[in-house]
Amino acid sequence: MVSLSFSADAPAALDADALVFALSGAADDLTLTGPASALDAATGGALLGALRAVRAQAKVGTVTTLPPLPGIGAARLLAVGVGAETGLESLRRAAGAGVRAAGAGRVVVALAGDDAEADAVAEGALLGAYQFDTYRSEPRPSSSEVVVTGSAGSDARIHRATVVTEAIAWTRDHVNTPPGDLWPAMLADNAAALAGPHGIEVEILDEVALKAAAFGGILGVGAGSVRPPRLVRLAWRHPDATRTIAFVGKGITFDSGGLSIKPAKAMEWMKADMAGAAAVIAAISAIARLNLPINITAWAPLAENMPSGTATRPGDVLRMYGGKTVEVLNTDAEGRLVLGDALVRAGEEKPDAIVDVATLTGAQLVALGARVSAIMTNDDDFGAEVRRAADDAGEAMWPMPLPPELRASMDTDIADIANIGDRSGGMLVAGLFLAEFVPAGTPWVHLDIAGPSYNDGKPYGYTPSGGTGVAVRTLVRLAELSAT
Ligand code: BES
Ligand code: MN
Ligand code: ZN
Repeated sequence: MVSLSFSADAPAALDADALVFALSGAADDLTLTGPASALDAATGGALLGALRAVRAQAKVGTVTTLPPLPGIGAARLLAVGVGAETGLESLRRAAGAGVRAAGAGRVVVALAGDDAEADAVAEGALLGAYQFDTYRSEPRPSSSEVVVTGSAGSDARIHRATVVTEAIAWTRDHVNTPPGDLWPAMLADNAAALAGPHGIEVEILDEVALKAAAFGGILGVGAGSVRPPRLVRLAWRHPDATRTIAFVGKGITFDSGGLSIKPAKAMEWMKADMAGAAAVIAAISAIARLNLPINITAWAPLAENMPSGTATRPGDVLRMYGGKTVEVLNTDAEGRLVLGDALVRAGEEKPDAIVDVATLTGAQLVALGARVSAIMTNDDDFGAEVRRAADDAGEAMWPMPLPPELRASMDTDIADIANIGDRSGGMLVAGLFLAEFVPAGTPWVHLDIAGPSYNDGKPYGYTPSGGTGVAVRTLVRLAELSAT
């Protein structure tokens, strides 16, 4: 656990194991601006001279380490390249890259010039300090203390940065946990343990309750596993709230594809298929800890998608919660089945709006890549609100359409709808399937986070390898925006 503080003191004067600052400009034109130019002044220009001498690079994300210099208190100097980038998100990333490179001890992060920048830097620094070492014999060193300069800070701002980044760490931990060690009941219990202490009402439906209430989608997806499914309902109620938003998160603790089994390569990171559920659970907990004046209900349909003698077969028809029937033509299109049940159940409580978060389709990765989530909506105003929240939070999301003509590709003679349709536009087809389970007239946003939920490569900015915790910041920001 990393401790955070703010300091309005000159960073050059602070004692630290490492000092992080920004290096801007091009290779032949390195520049130190803002707080970094004050650092350079404190050394009488020796800092820029040393950076030039070692041919430091200002390329975004490149970190150059220098030994200490007279005039600066820190034992190591870390110049993080920001190129020509400006803005809060680039500060978050620079802080994350710098703190990760610092590795250990007390790190002073001198990137901010005002309060808003300092808050972004604090967030990025804490996110960059994250490590998942539960399964390593030798835990890697990581920073224990982060000091953000450029602002005196306040208890409330320390609290916000801590709460949000702890929520993201919880999400990352759960995404990273091996699927053998995280099954539906386990995730449900962990959700209760996280949310319960913060005044959130917790309700968990086990397989008996799910059967009694006819949650055919969740039961159908979980049918092949010896570890039965769950539906988690978390409710945060604030006395001053004027709006209720429902969050729904896909929680497949492992997606083998079921009988429509995935190739080995495609299964490698399917432990991450509960990233949406983890995000909504963590986000509502953060919203409660921040005591935001809004009502939020978070729904997490949890199942393990496995092949076995009891598994749902291609050709089987599931009767979903609420009565619609679905012909399952591909058991690997399971996310939409658990989400369909949860969306209908969420809609029964007549929320003012619904946001679902799901690692739903490989087509998302094809369309937008690994770093940009897709936003689909039935309501342009609500869609714009969520995009605004994502922009504020620094999470890349891009609007995608729900073309009505694709709906016919899910027509079937056997049932009300099939669970797959046209392969082209697969992400949109999945969105259109979900739309069938959203109550008419309720503003709804669907976030497909398949790629962005998991970083298959090297760490960058504040993003580690593995689980990223994407969507948590957007959901918390959405609650903040609609609470004011
Ligand atoms: N969990 C996957 C989607 C996914 C793929 C997430 C890659 C992250 C990375 C989902 O359940 C799935 O298997 N979708 C299928 C749907 C298809 C059978 C219509 C897909 O995208 O291939
Ligand atoms: Mn699947
Ligand atoms: Zn899946």
